[in-house]
Amino acid sequence: MARNIVLVGFMGTGKTTVGSALAERLGWCFVDTDAAIEDREGCSIAEIFERKGEGYFRETESAVIQEVLAAGQQVVSTGGGAVLLQENCEAMLSGGFVVALKTPPGVLIERMRHDSNRPLLSGDKEERVHRLLEERKNAYDFAQLTIDTSICDIHEATDQIMRAAGLGGQPPSGDYN
Ligand code: S3P
Repeated sequence: MARNIVLVGFMGTGKTTVGSALAERLGWCFVDTDAAIEDREGCSIAEIFERKGEGYFRETESAVIQEVLAAGQQVVSTGGGAVLLQENCEAMLSGGFVVALKTPPGVLIERMRHDSNRPLLSGDKEERVHRLLEERKNAYDFAQLTIDTSICDIHEATDQIMRAAGLGGQPPSGDYN
């Protein structure tokens, strides 16, 4: 049985939505590492990028991931770029069951069209999303389960995760047979 469930995936794939629903079903704590970073720094992610740069953000993100994963019974949603550092991926795999959420680019762009809180998407959002997806195309492959959130609802996604992590969930329906 998994100690924690760790969600990874590109921005806009639904980590916070799926993660909080899953935590509620399991009766576990939900931890969003971006929110933990903001609490620790006393300002928004956008302000951290602006004032201290991406390098500082990545260092803080790694420290927060290590700290959070020292505890158990948590659903942990990580920032889309947390997987870029090998040490973070290793901490995630040893701290819990890692689930990647994925979504086709067009759906991501639509979901984040009016978003102004993600510094890496400032400017031409479409171009930024395509470029980052290309740069990160294999970055989420280390996960133990991958779910496409554009083809299942939140309940189905949480069921799949619970089953795969050995935490219960409803048996798959016969619809796909
Ligand atoms: C980032 C994703 C963001 C946040 C930061 C950098 C990234 O988190 O950590 O803006 O590098 O992909 P979400 O994936 O929760 O948007």
